[in-house]
Amino acid sequence: MRKTSSTPLQTPTYLSLLLVLLSSLLTTQACKSEPKIDVKTLKVPPSTSASIARGKKLFSSLCVSCHGKEGKGDGPGARALYIKPTNLAAGAYRHGKTPGHLFKVITEGSPTTPLMAPWRHLPEKDRWALTHFVSSLPKKPSQPSNKPK
Ligand code: HEC
Repeated sequence: MRKTSSTPLQTPTYLSLLLVLLSSLLTTQACKSEPKIDVKTLKVPPSTSASIARGKKLFSSLCVSCHGKEGKGDGPGARALYIKPTNLAAGAYRHGKTPGHLFKVITEGSPTTPLMAPWRHLPEKDRWALTHFVSSLPKKPSQPSNKPK
């Protein structure tokens, strides 16, 4: 009979363990909600050929599965997605078209779908490199050969 008396003691231990788990979960959640980027005050570093090249390299390993090699939104994984990845090669953006807007989506993820996940864990320099590469994708209509006279 005496033996069972240890059982009630275990319940609070269990509970406190649960509490510790819960609070650590809550803390990670809190850490995730970092201050949002304000595109208006964001300083956009200049796009250089070195940064575009770096962005291209990162893009071809991290982003092509959905966005496709040329950013057309036709990566092998795109078919399975219920929201199609933006056609970056067409510059058909959904959440703003300045480099600052692109940087914001790359950092924070899409405001409308978790399919475009945040890439906050990448160094800021790499996120800018990706931004510069993505911005370099659409063919500029102002290319001399296309210019109407
Ligand atoms: C799991 C698939 C997936 C991967 C991997 C992915 N994306 Fe996306 N991306 C999407 C989808 C889906 C959208 C469309 C989001 C929307 O409509 O809001 C999108 C949208 C975007 C946009 C455009 C936002 C706009 O305004 O339309 C940019 C820029 C972008 N992704 C960059 C990247 C970069 C850079 C990477 C790699 C670091 C990447 N994505 C990896 C699925 C993905």
